[in-house]
Formats: sequence, structure tokens, C-alpha cells
Amino acid sequence: MNREAYIVGTGHCVPEKILTNADLEKMVDTTDQWIVERTGIRTRHITDDRTATSDLALEASRQAMESAGWKPSDVQAVIVGTVTPDHAFPSTACLVATRLGLGRVPAWDFEAGCTGFVYGLIQAKAFILSGLFDRIIVIGAECLTKITNWDDRTSCILFGDGAGAVAVSSQGPGGRLGSFHWGSDGNISDLLIQPAGGSREPATCETVKAHKHTIWMNGSETFKHAVRAMRDSCLLALENEGIPKSEVDLLISHQANWRIIDATARALGLSPEQVYVNIDRYGNTSAASIPIALDEAMRAGLLASPKNVVLAAFGAGMTWGGIVIRW
Ligand code: COA
Repeated sequence: MNREAYIVGTGHCVPEKILTNADLEKMVDTTDQWIVERTGIRTRHITDDRTATSDLALEASRQAMESAGWKPSDVQAVIVGTVTPDHAFPSTACLVATRLGLGRVPAWDFEAGCTGFVYGLIQAKAFILSGLFDRIIVIGAECLTKITNWDDRTSCILFGDGAGAVAVSSQGPGGRLGSFHWGSDGNISDLLIQPAGGSREPATCETVKAHKHTIWMNGSETFKHAVRAMRDSCLLALENEGIPKSEVDLLISHQANWRIIDATARALGLSPEQVYVNIDRYGNTSAASIPIALDEAMRAGLLASPKNVVLAAFGAGMTWGGIVIRW
């Protein structure tokens, strides 16, 4: 029999502290009305000085293992999609694996911007179908507010912190990872970039003064690419799976802007009840946004079998991806 990969457990964690649009009105020249109308965001959760990405990832993973009924010795690998690791190295995955008590399992980070979680699921599926692993934890975790320029009103209103995790197994029952479509285009990489702090422009006092270690984004251009890429990824993933868009029950999209989510939903012909939206509460948490939404949808009973679910993401790179999950 062919091997399959199933999501068998989910979890998420967001920091307690909430930053409201009213708080942001005191920090930059903006209004609650502009933020809500243009993005759909009302609040976002932000970490304190003592909390890092691995702390959020750890709690999300504990929940995913608990809901899967996994002991530490069941886990064979941990992968983390993040653009805000605790350190450039060692990887956040190594820190999480050790704190989960998993022993000496392989653990590594990868970076695909806000598409990180979808890229992670595709990697997990490939590893499981190859027979290399039977049980793997996939995490999307970010502390974007640590690299936010709080003087830039066009971007600082968007981002929040959080983590989501799933347990992926060769044994169901669960959400079977179906067909997918993914891609990238480095020609438009400068639309969304953290310019300094890497080997191209190492951090100096000057780069820090110029805010070059924070997120630089051409919002309106990013928006246009995101709408096109998320729509196309979903449609191609569905075509590969051989199901018409009329059979989609739920869209769980990256939460970057409700207008992008709405455009993707319209392209699939979905009604508002068929789209999971939590951007109003969390803002854009990059690689964490889809697994947070997935865990919330799971705990709300929205994924009770049978369900055809589509995930869609777009992010820095630029990268994109869509995957069908069948519960
Ligand atoms: N408050 C008030 N006004 C603001 C503002 C804010 N926080 N941010 C921008 N504006 C102003 C702009 O200065 C501009 O003013 P002008 O017309 O006088 O020049 C006007 O609002 C419109 O700006 P624009 O950038 O065209 O707005 P937009 O409708 O594209 O919305 C984003 C801006 C950033 C919300 C939107 O482009 C977006 O969500 N982009 C995608 C972001 C994203 O997904 N990033 C991550 C990818 S995973």
C-alpha cells in the first residue's frame, strides 16, 4: 500500500501582551479606522524582552504532541520555518527538540518567509512518503515584532508574534496531506527584505541607525503578487488533487491582509463561512499564521471529517504554496 502523511495533532501559542490599534495611534500617524479598513487587523500579540521564538514554538509543539498522543520518544525529527530564529545559529529547531526532551533527533530550521509552514508540510510529506520518517513535528514560529520598524506606519501596524505546530504521521486518522503547488521568484526578492544583518550587509552601528535590520516592504507591490500567487497555488493544488473548487469546505490562508484572503476566497468561489480568518486578533505572524489558524479551526470542530481544506501562503523570497488537506 502507498504511504501517506497525516496531520494527527495541532497546537499554538501566542504571547499574552496585546497591542491594539489604539496603542499604535499613539506611536505613529495612523488610525484604527485606516488599519481595520485596509488590513482587517484590530489587535496583535507581542512578546516581551525575555521571550524568543523557541519559547512560543516549544509550547505549540507540546500541545501538538499532546493532541497526537505522542511521547517524546515517538518524534523522529523537528523542523521549524521561521525568519526570526532565536539566533542565526544554532537553529531554533535544535533548541526546541532538546527542550521537548526528544533526545538526539535531527532538527533544523528552514526559511521561506510567510510560506514557511506550507513549505514545512511539503517537506514532512516528502520525508514520510520516502520512508525516512514516520513521525515529524512541523513548526511555524515567529517574533516579527522583534524586527519591526516601529517608526514605519506602513509596516508596523501589520505584524504580531506567535507559533503553531503540527504532528505529522505516516499513520492516520487525521488530515491527509494531499496535492500541492509551490514556487519562488528571487527576481522580486527586494519587495520584502531585512536588508542588513546577513553576509551581504553585516550589522554595524550605521545599519542599525538606518533601521536596516528591520522589515522593509513595498506593501502595494507585495499585495498584488500575493493575490495572484495564492490564487494560482490553490487552483493548481486542487487540480493536482483532482477535486473541483466547489468541493472545498474550508480555506485556511496566510493571514497577511483580509483583502488578500478575501481575493483568494473569491477566486475559489467560497462564502465567508468557508474561510478561516483570525487576522483581526493576531495580525500577520508570518510562518506561524497558518498553523495557529489550523489549530484554532481544529479545536473549534471545523475540521471534523469529511472535509476538504486548502492552505495557501505567500511570503518573502518571494515564495508561495498551496496544499490540499483531506480530513
Ligand atoms: N495609517 C494611515 N495611512 C497609511 C498607513 C497607516 N498605517 N500606511 C500607509 N498609509 C497611507 C500611505 O502613506 C498612502 O498615503 P498616500 O496615498 O497619501 O501616499 C495610503 O495610505 C495608501 O498606501 P498604500 O501603501 O497604497 O496602501 P495599501 O492599500 O496598499 O495598504 C498595506 C498598505 C501594507 C496594508 C497593503 O499594501 C498590504 O497589506 N500589503 C501586503 C503586505 C503583506 O502581505 N506583507 C507580507 C507578505 S507575506
